[in-house]
Amino acid sequence: MPPRYQAPKGTFDVLPEQEAARALVHACASGALAAAGYGRIETPIFEDTDLFARGVGESTDIVRKEMFSFEDGGGRSITLRPEGTAPICRAYVEHGMHKLPQPVKLWHEGPYFRYERPQEGRHRQFNQIGAEVIGADSPLADGELIVALDSLLRGLGIEGLKLRLSSLGSSGARVAYREELRSYLRDHEAELSDDVRSRIDANPMRAFDADHAGTRDVMVGAPTLLERLDDADAEHFAEVRSLLDGSAVAYVLDPTLVRGLDYYNRTVFEFDCDRLGAQSGIGGGGRYDGLVELLGGAPTPAVGWAVGVERVLLAMVAPSADPAIDVFVVAAEDRAAAFALVRELRAAGIGADLDLAERSFKGQMKQADRSGALFAVVIEADGPAQVRDMRSGEQREVARDAVLALLTAESA
Ligand code: HAM
Repeated sequence: MPPRYQAPKGTFDVLPEQEAARALVHACASGALAAAGYGRIETPIFEDTDLFARGVGESTDIVRKEMFSFEDGGGRSITLRPEGTAPICRAYVEHGMHKLPQPVKLWHEGPYFRYERPQEGRHRQFNQIGAEVIGADSPLADGELIVALDSLLRGLGIEGLKLRLSSLGSSGARVAYREELRSYLRDHEAELSDDVRSRIDANPMRAFDADHAGTRDVMVGAPTLLERLDDADAEHFAEVRSLLDGSAVAYVLDPTLVRGLDYYNRTVFEFDCDRLGAQSGIGGGGRYDGLVELLGGAPTPAVGWAVGVERVLLAMVAPSADPAIDVFVVAAEDRAAAFALVRELRAAGIGADLDLAERSFKGQMKQADRSGALFAVVIEADGPAQVRDMRSGEQREVARDAVLALLTAESA
């Protein structure tokens, strides 16, 4: 017996019946982002490992333990992309997009890979939709993006959303603040988890993210970066907040908000959804003013977000799927006549299907019922066809050469 294979741990198949909801998310996101002036960009599924080590940050969980990295045939270290922002900044620099009118507004969609412990809403291969504004430091860019994400999620009927918002300030303020936080953490070293203690030097901010009870208690009294912003950063943040207030986008200030990527500065945000379980983060992002320069470009301010498509789907009330086909053609005897009519209907843009398993007449009628089609047409080689409205059960006799016109009118 050959072995029975299963999709690798943490991955999943998208089956045809799950496609309608995905198509809806895609259509809403692409429509809204295109209408707001964002152009779609696609980057490769894999990149040089170094792009992520440098761009996302050596001390992050993503780079330390979640990347699928391997050596290619030429001895290069390659990584399946764990996120999309570093690749897009790489593309911005590589294609000289700084020469275009700024900012450059891009959106993207596709699969991402992280070696995480799988659970509901957390996979090793998942999909993101993201938007990036590169080349603008105005709070208007932050405001536009956050408002766009809020309306996308609400437009998909997602309830129970909470937007957490903070500012990480500039790197100067962060350096001073980090030193202050390090010495606070060292004063409480005995109460911290081993993981947090081992990262006091490399990444003290991650202590805000810890699940460990002792660490959480310590962090309640920790100084926050929001209290230490310099004037320019505080003003930038105040303008972002006032744009959100003016757009009726509700948020809570969360000075402990830490994103799992090192490139952020100034605005950071995350939408949580209480319909999701432990993995409540549905989408998030922030400003990354240093990333383009870090990847070899000129200093270029930028801001963006990404949502997890699978988490969006979990949070959505299941949309009622439109029937995939309009008409199911049943052959009374002559299957070639049914075949010809289906070809004719499809050519006219009408969704049509027929039985390919040579079932009996009764079996075909059952198939027509199961297909969800709005009409079943019973066809003979000669003579009239029977057109049955599957919702009302009403049946009409129609001349063979009038079937197309009738169904075209019905499906208009
Ligand atoms: P992120 O917060 O790491 O940000 O991921 C964005 C979203 O992807 C999360 O909110 C979540 O919905 C989804 N996600 C992340 N990991 C998984 C997983 N293992 N399984 C299922 N869904 C997941 C970024 O990736 C940044 N690049 C966002 C960004 C764009 N920042 C600026 N521009």
